[in-house]
Amino acid sequence: MKARVIMVASCKGGVGKTTVTANLALSLAKLGRRTLMVDCDFGMRCLDLVCGLSDKVTYDVCDCILRGISPERAAVRDPRSPSLWFIAGPYRYGGGIDGEGFRSFLETASEELSLDYIIVDTHGGEGVEFSLAAPNADIALVISTHQEASIRAAEETAKRISELGSAETRLIINSYDVKAARRGRLPGVLELIDRTRVRLIGIVPRDDSMLERQVTGSLAASDGRSRSGKAFANVARRLDGESVPLSVE
Ligand SMILES: Nc1ncnc2c1ncn2[C@@H]1O[C@H](COP(=O)(O)OP(=O)(O)O)[C@@H](O)[C@H]1O
Ligand SMILES: [Mg+2]
Repeated sequence: MKARVIMVASCKGGVGKTTVTANLALSLAKLGRRTLMVDCDFGMRCLDLVCGLSDKVTYDVCDCILRGISPERAAVRDPRSPSLWFIAGPYRYGGGIDGEGFRSFLETASEELSLDYIIVDTHGGEGVEFSLAAPNADIALVISTHQEASIRAAEETAKRISELGSAETRLIINSYDVKAARRGRLPGVLELIDRTRVRLIGIVPRDDSMLERQVTGSLAASDGRSRSGKAFANVARRLDGESVPLSVE
């Protein structure tokens, strides 16, 4: 398969998986990389909402894998970039997708849309999505905030990914509150790396405009001047092989 498959994971909900998926995908597309976002949070889909694309969705992942709709037909072009597409997750999932079916869906999508990247948003728990995505991913981004429960979940997530497949894991610290870390109120970057034992690829600052953005479907990565927008752009460039200095501001 030509496209690199990136899985976005944490077995805890609410840490920012969907936010990271949408913003990283747009950042990669802005680098000119042909990128597809796939919502694999079956039953709880919300990537379409975060991207503001709900009205444009006709088909979902299950239509592609179980009902013969081609990924090219199911993919919605994101109006923000000519290099960005989106395939929704199903509202309800009654089973029936196996690892081989999912792999073949990714391969067909990669070929039909000539993709460079496929970013797969996953579910927070031990859902089937996790075991479909992990063996097919080239790289798994483990998302953690610096809240205790999220750090523990990141450690567990990285362990499960390595049990399920050969994906490399990288840590994204999301919603980072630099002031709280400096005052010692919340664990800092080094403690997070030590505790999760995952190599760091980026830090996304806490950005209180995110909540509002989820309502309007606007993405921080659209705005190259915001701190979180810049952080997503930096992670995208690192994923794409550039050497970009880490910023903690
Ligand atoms: N960097 C951030 N700063 C502030 N809020 C954030 C940030 N990233 C995500 N959020 C907010 O956290 C909530 C959960 O994010 P979401 O991406 O839906 O998490 P998950 O997909 O892991 O359940 C959302 O309300 C989102 O707007
Ligand atoms: Mg989510």
